[in-house]
Amino acid sequence: MKDDNQKKISGFSSMRKRDKIKWIAKNFFKDPEVVIKELSSYWHSNDEQQKILDGFSENTISNFPMPFGVAPNFLIDGKTYCVPMVIEESSVVAAASAAAKFWMERGGFKTEIVDTKKLGQVHFFWYGDRQDLFENFVNAKIKLMEDTNEIASNMKKRGGGILNLELLDFTEKKNNYYQIKASFETCDSMGANFINTCLEQFAKSLSSFYQELTGQDDCIEIIMSILSNYTPECLVKAWVECPIEELGDFKNGMTAEIFARRFNDAIEIAEIDTYRATTHNKGIYNGIDAVIIATGNDFRAIESCGHTYAAEGSYSSLSHCSIEDGIFKFWLEVPMAIGTVGGLTSLHPIAKRSLELLENPTAKELMSIVASTGLAQNFGAIRSLITTGIQQGHMKMHLQNILRHLEASEEEYEKANLYFKDRVVSFGSVRNFLKLNRQTISQTD
Ligand code: MEV
Repeated sequence: MKDDNQKKISGFSSMRKRDKIKWIAKNFFKDPEVVIKELSSYWHSNDEQQKILDGFSENTISNFPMPFGVAPNFLIDGKTYCVPMVIEESSVVAAASAAAKFWMERGGFKTEIVDTKKLGQVHFFWYGDRQDLFENFVNAKIKLMEDTNEIASNMKKRGGGILNLELLDFTEKKNNYYQIKASFETCDSMGANFINTCLEQFAKSLSSFYQELTGQDDCIEIIMSILSNYTPECLVKAWVECPIEELGDFKNGMTAEIFARRFNDAIEIAEIDTYRATTHNKGIYNGIDAVIIATGNDFRAIESCGHTYAAEGSYSSLSHCSIEDGIFKFWLEVPMAIGTVGGLTSLHPIAKRSLELLENPTAKELMSIVASTGLAQNFGAIRSLITTGIQQGHMKMHLQNILRHLEASEEEYEKANLYFKDRVVSFGSVRNFLKLNRQTISQTD
């Protein structure tokens, strides 16, 4: 064990990358030389490209590779997409692709952008007369809008800008606490920088307006100004539907009618039970996050917003199902504040390719694509769960990973895939199978 003093350092951020790696390797690893080699091996071979990647973060020592896959055959609003997905979990891309193909043959995914409103807040304390604050807010609002004219001019040219400013009273929950709640349209950009710049200007203008009005510097105290990642009005709806009999027959001899009924039951369970809803929604975000990451958007923002949306009332399923007049309908309504210009979307070389693969969609089109992928993922998961169980598909992938780990030959892969078709896969059982197989071969040689 290294002693704790060796693990402390000052001036780390200004060290050269190689020195950072050396220091880490020496002080945190048993085999420093191997670690140095390994970390360096993931650097981009092109220095310029590496600089771009380093620019996304700080104290970078290497790159962290993740699989970049695609799910073809997504028919969304009449247009066919091949959807890029960055995810490390096996079965996710396969499930999305299978569900996409299934629905492509049944009319595809349909979507509707409900709204694209984004939000931000200035949190402040007001120490004066409440009436002064509210009565003068009409004029304060004019000043706040005027003072952000320049900041918002480009956004306005693109058809967006500041939509509204509201003054909210939270004093019942916390003494002196008020809020400016601002709404924005940021067109094809995620808009975080624009929103935060506007908010910080609002805060300054708000202070000076009321200080001048009251003649008192201490009538107002700004606590903070920041966008809200909860954007329930930046919302997309995606759905699939078809007559029940067109669902076809399913594994284990399940008819379309039984499938539809069991599917609907599974969704209702996720609507009722928080424990199930969490796993259910996690499955939706398997699809959503994978596209969000591939297109250079902020998956933490998308996830936190989605879960808050799912928790309105009590935490519940984001997707819903109905069976009416012989029609099976399955849909998802999910907030999605994303962009297709600016930020990482225009800088990350693979994110740019992902967007190109999607034929450079607008933010609204990307909202539709992402929501459809989430819905496809959810459909794939529920279909497996109510028919064969999830392990069958997972185990197939798990088996490949174990075989790779045990350095199986091509012939062994074939034999193992056949043998484990209807047997339980575990690391031990695969190792034993290979051992026995190898022994038999050496005896017959
Ligand atoms: C696994 O990553 C996701 C699932 O658990 C989702 C679900 O249970 O609906 C399969």
